Amino acid sequence: MGALAKQDIVRLFHDHVSSGRADMFVSNDMDFVFGRRQGIYMWDIDGKKRLINCHSNGGVFNLGHRNPDIIDTLADALKDMDIGNSHLMSRQRALLAKRLADLMPGDITYTVFGVSGGESIDLAIKIARASTGRPKIISARGGYHGHTGFALAAGDEKYRKPFGPMAPGFVQVPFDSINALDRAMDRETAGVIFETVPATFGISVPDADYFRKVRDLCNSHGAVMIIDEVQTGLGRTGRLWGIEHFGVVPDIIVLGKGLSGGIYPITATCFRERFESVFKEDPFIHVSTFGGAEAGCSVALKVLDISSRQTFLDHVNTIAGMFKNGFEQFKQQYPKLIVAFRQLGLMMGVKMANELCGPVMTKACYDNGILSIYANNDTSVSQLMPPLIITEAETQEVLERLGAALGQVNTLLGL
Ligand SMILES: Cc1ncc(COP(=O)(O)O)c(C=O)c1O
Repeated sequence: MGALAKQDIVRLFHDHVSSGRADMFVSNDMDFVFGRRQGIYMWDIDGKKRLINCHSNGGVFNLGHRNPDIIDTLADALKDMDIGNSHLMSRQRALLAKRLADLMPGDITYTVFGVSGGESIDLAIKIARASTGRPKIISARGGYHGHTGFALAAGDEKYRKPFGPMAPGFVQVPFDSINALDRAMDRETAGVIFETVPATFGISVPDADYFRKVRDLCNSHGAVMIIDEVQTGLGRTGRLWGIEHFGVVPDIIVLGKGLSGGIYPITATCFRERFESVFKEDPFIHVSTFGGAEAGCSVALKVLDISSRQTFLDHVNTIAGMFKNGFEQFKQQYPKLIVAFRQLGLMMGVKMANELCGPVMTKACYDNGILSIYANNDTSVSQLMPPLIITEAETQEVLERLGAALGQVNTLLGL
């Protein structure tokens, strides 16, 4: 097709991928077309605009764009591997599952792989239902677990509404309210599912003892505790798994996004040994053609090697400290705009005065060379999730740019 001018790509995208998205970006003067990318940076296809990625696609780019170690690993794997066959036994899947078993808390020793977070959430819910023989699944209002069947049914109403009847048995409660969960749980409850820190709901960090109480309620009702670590996993919070901050071992942990190294899609449903019985009678009751593709397993193994190093986690915490200090100053500068700075490691959200602030901040960040996107289920919050490999000097630059963006939002909204 030869080289295409940027406006031709925008037109093709409009005409054949999504007219709604193209119109929205163009009308907001944000017609960025993804071009070159490296580390924390991404450039427009015409090379004219550079953004620092502080969205990281929810953690896909934890290790930065085109991380050279990940690329080498994939290139190596492609010398003698392909997707493999999900029906057969596989050295790569076995090694990756064993590595996950070693790194997971408690006796979470089995893993089934998928290709999307939603698919792996669906499987977690299938396991909860099959192992308990009960139908009810409780999740958080405003939470997000993906766009597929059960994951969609567990998520916020607005994503479900246009699509007709959902699977029955799903109930939502306010996040971080143990009383509400207590009232919702009964003998029909198969499981509860929560993000460790709900991202789309605005990086809402729960009380320190919330998940311990969730664990207790699950124990007393015989329900399965599912934790969605699609965004919080793999070092994002300064520990390998976000749930480690809360001192409990769930029954099932779901991983996605960052496990791909930003290069090869792979997701995982990791569960306690006792749930393996679900697959014992018919080991082919759940199959995923591309789930745990062998080349992708090599990538995920490398991601785990890098992300589980103490030096890596120490670095995340150092950078998190820089953001904490930076936002203490911003809060003094813009006391009416910034309501709270929400943070668990580098999982960060800026809670602002009203629901207009998030979209306005997204645009101001864009104009200042930062990709930061507001939380869809609480648009007063701007999500901040830079790649975990960001350096101290780069962090300083991000803080300067964020300061400028906050100043513009403050002026624009007359606060
Ligand atoms: C917390 C959480 N869970 C699950 C998902 C679904 O993942 P995927 O889009 O890969 O299906 C997402 C995606 O954004 C997510 O943020």
